Amino acid sequence: MRPKRQVPDSQRDRPRSASSRNSTRRRGLAYWLGRAWAHWTYARHVEPHWLEVTRWQLPLANWPEALDGLRIAHLTDFHVGRRVPLSLLVEAVDLANAQKPHLIALTGDFVHAGRGYVEQVAEVLSRLRAPLGVVAVLGNHDFAKRTRLGWAHSGLPLRIEAALRQRGVRVLRNEAWQVERNGAAFYVVGVDDLWSGRCDVQAAFRGIPAQAPCLLLAHHPQTIERLAGHRAILTLSGHTHGGQVNWPGLGPLFLGGKMRRWATGLFHQRNGWLYVNRGVGYGLRLRYRARPEVAVFTLLSRNENRLAHGRHL
Ligand SMILES: [Fe+2]
Repeated sequence: MRPKRQVPDSQRDRPRSASSRNSTRRRGLAYWLGRAWAHWTYARHVEPHWLEVTRWQLPLANWPEALDGLRIAHLTDFHVGRRVPLSLLVEAVDLANAQKPHLIALTGDFVHAGRGYVEQVAEVLSRLRAPLGVVAVLGNHDFAKRTRLGWAHSGLPLRIEAALRQRGVRVLRNEAWQVERNGAAFYVVGVDDLWSGRCDVQAAFRGIPAQAPCLLLAHHPQTIERLAGHRAILTLSGHTHGGQVNWPGLGPLFLGGKMRRWATGLFHQRNGWLYVNRGVGYGLRLRYRARPEVAVFTLLSRNENRLAHGRHL
């Protein structure tokens, strides 16, 4: 709050001239413009590249004791292109590696538009290091490029998939991968983006035993509503970019409907936990109270002495 200006007693009842009133108005306007400029500069030039590592401890009911403490780094929504520099992706990769994760999950929107940056993005992502590997699904921007005539499918998903696979990233397209560690096993299930029209949950879960612990990678958080009886103890998503601009009192300005509630964070759903990551890149270079994020989860087998809910450290 602005400190109240003290007025000397001698001036208190003196009538103010028109020029004095104008000067007060000018000062108020200058103050308002200064604040607006500072907010704009911060949202445009500081926050979009100010990466944050968020850490979560997550006790899971169906998580094997042998896998207690498994650490997963989650990155999403890179949107590399003319606006988002490759250097931001390099920084995110370095931050993820520094967390020493056992597994790294990537949930799509590797490029913003078209094929131009596919090889460069894949090259940077090839530097990710985790003993169990790096696993990915595709996002809506990986399926199509916006043109004057609408959205053009141009073999883009196949090109991204091939570029990532050549560099050792396992790309899951409506399929599951069984991971074994310390004599226990779990599944990582990955689906194509919901908006692509190619998301097939049934195919992705096919053949997985009913009680097996599953992690789901799905670019769009609303995929969790299409699970049709399948259960994932943790779903990792992105897509929202945290709303990008979270104005106090108004919430995420660029999101509507249910997506406003799911803008970012950890949610407990009927089908298990859902995490919506704020992502690394952006469409429009503007972030306010929605910093770009690398999320790290430590999965704990549930134990009475442990926390009953997810906890952000
Ligand atoms: Fe995105």
